[in-house]
Amino acid sequence: MKIVVEKDYESMSKAVADHIIETIKKKPNALIELPGGDTPLGIFKELVNASKTRNVDFSKCFFVSLDEWENLGYETKGSCKQTLFDYLYKQLPIDLEKQVCFFDGKADLGKECQRVDQFIFDHENLDLAVLGIGMNGHVGFNEPGVDENQYCTIVPLDAVTQSVSIKYFGEQLNVAHGITLGFKHFLNAKEVILIADSERKADIVQKVIEGPLTNEVPASLIRKVKNSTIYLDRQASKKLKHQSLEAGY
Ligand code: PGA
Repeated sequence: MKIVVEKDYESMSKAVADHIIETIKKKPNALIELPGGDTPLGIFKELVNASKTRNVDFSKCFFVSLDEWENLGYETKGSCKQTLFDYLYKQLPIDLEKQVCFFDGKADLGKECQRVDQFIFDHENLDLAVLGIGMNGHVGFNEPGVDENQYCTIVPLDAVTQSVSIKYFGEQLNVAHGITLGFKHFLNAKEVILIADSERKADIVQKVIEGPLTNEVPASLIRKVKNSTIYLDRQASKKLKHQSLEAGY
C-alpha cells in the first residue's frame, strides 16, 4: 500500500480530489464509490471547485454509495445520503437519477443489497473505492471481525460506531444496524484509497499500516489490494514508526 502524508487537512483533501479527477480523466465512465463522514468533506469541496474551474467532465462517470444507517434517509441531517447529496452530488453537473446509485436506508435492506450489488456487477466492479477509517478501524460499516467474502450486507453496528454517531446527528439516534458495501467489493476494486486526518486517528492509522493484517482491524485488510493508497495528514501519521520514510511533504 502506498502511503502519502500531506502537511494538513486541506492539502490532503486536494491530493485525494486530484487522484479522483485523474481516475475520471483516464476512464470517463468510471464507477467510483465515495464515503460519508467528516473526513471527505474537504475532498468534496475540491471536487465541486474543480467542476467549476477546471476542465473536468463528470457527465459520464458513475457514483455508488458506501453505506447508510438503517431507517435513515436524506431528510435526516447527518445521514450518508444527506452528506453526499448536499455536499457533493447536487453541486456537480451530473444526472442524479442516472449517475448515482445510493442505498435507501428506509427500504427493504435485503433488496437494497441485491440492487446495489447488481449495479456494481453491471459496471464490472468498482474502478475506485474511497474509504474513511472509523475509530475502531472499520471501513464503511465493515466492523471488527468482518467476513471479507461478503458483498453488500446488513450489519449490527459496533458499540464504538454507535457512540461516535452522535457527532453526525447531534443526538443519540437508535442506529443499531447499517447497510454497507461488503469487503469483497473493495478486494475486487481496481483501486482503493483510504483517508484519515487528525490526531484522534493516529493510533488506528498506526495499526492499519504497521499492525498485523487482521479482520479485527478491517482497514488493515486493504493492504491486500495491490493498487491501494492511504492519504493522511501529518497529525494522523504521528504514531507511524517509519514516519520520516513515509512523509511526502
Ligand atoms: P469520519 O468517519 O470521517 O467522520 O471520521 C469515518 C468512518 O467512521 O468511516
